[in-house]
Amino acid sequence: MTDHLIVTDEDNARIITMRRPDKKNALTQDMYFAMADAINSAQSDPDIRSIVISGGAGVFTAGNDLEDFAKANTSNDDSARPMAATQFLKALADNEKPLIGAVDGIAVGVGTTMLFHCDYVVAGSTATFSTPFIHLGLVPEAASSLLAPRVMGHQRAFSMLVMGRTVTAEEAREAGFVNAVVAPGHTETEARKIAREIGGLPKDAVALTRKLLKPPREDVVRRMDEESHHFGERLKSDEARNAFSAFFARKKKA
Ligand code: COA
Repeated sequence: MTDHLIVTDEDNARIITMRRPDKKNALTQDMYFAMADAINSAQSDPDIRSIVISGGAGVFTAGNDLEDFAKANTSNDDSARPMAATQFLKALADNEKPLIGAVDGIAVGVGTTMLFHCDYVVAGSTATFSTPFIHLGLVPEAASSLLAPRVMGHQRAFSMLVMGRTVTAEEAREAGFVNAVVAPGHTETEARKIAREIGGLPKDAVALTRKLLKPPREDVVRRMDEESHHFGERLKSDEARNAFSAFFARKKKA
């Protein structure tokens, strides 16, 4: 249980809203567990025809909580990061319901990589997408090393995942991982509209067609495991430690 995630069922859709505004919706262990649970428990509910992931208005998420990364850097226990985040990522890989992302504001790290598991993404015109793993001395996760080149081609994926470049909403739409760009503050409304549209389509045919469009689940999970192995090692690296310290020191200097 966490107060930082709101889960409601409306109009045949499960709406998952990240709500930790003072930390830009940075994802804690509890939030990952709750998101995994919200996705997993939707699978067996015939009334839920799609799932919406939103950050509400203003921010999608600043990605994994860097304090948790910093703890994992110094801890002898390897399970801190993998358990919660891996559970969430596996839930994304196992999910069989249409998944809709509603991105207003920043989507950093897993905030962007989770979108490669979405079937439809709505972005506010001021939204930005970044995967700054490289600047943190880390490697990509969430099977993004497999899914990003598949959706946008190697070169664009390279500039995001290897060079750590930020992408605007319009660039993301051109790259193919955002369907629609709407006025800021209107993403969730638009996402609910899409959910209602999907809810009106033949359920079994939607499920089957969606599955045919996706890469095999085993390939996705295998890549997640491979990335996760490297990620765990990189979390303990000096490059990562220096990046985490620099992030938390920057406020003190200001
Ligand atoms: N983990 C933990 N705390 C985070 C966070 C994160 N990923 N992102 C933001 N926060 C916290 C900040 O520490 C700050 O807390 P404080 O007010 O107690 O000091 C608060 O959220 C607001 O963030 P701030 O940096 O002041 O906002 P900003 O608008 O200037 O910048 C970001 C927003 C997202 C660009 C910046 O916070 C950032 O770079 N965050 C780290 C993103 C990241 O690297 N995520 C991991 C990707 S793998």
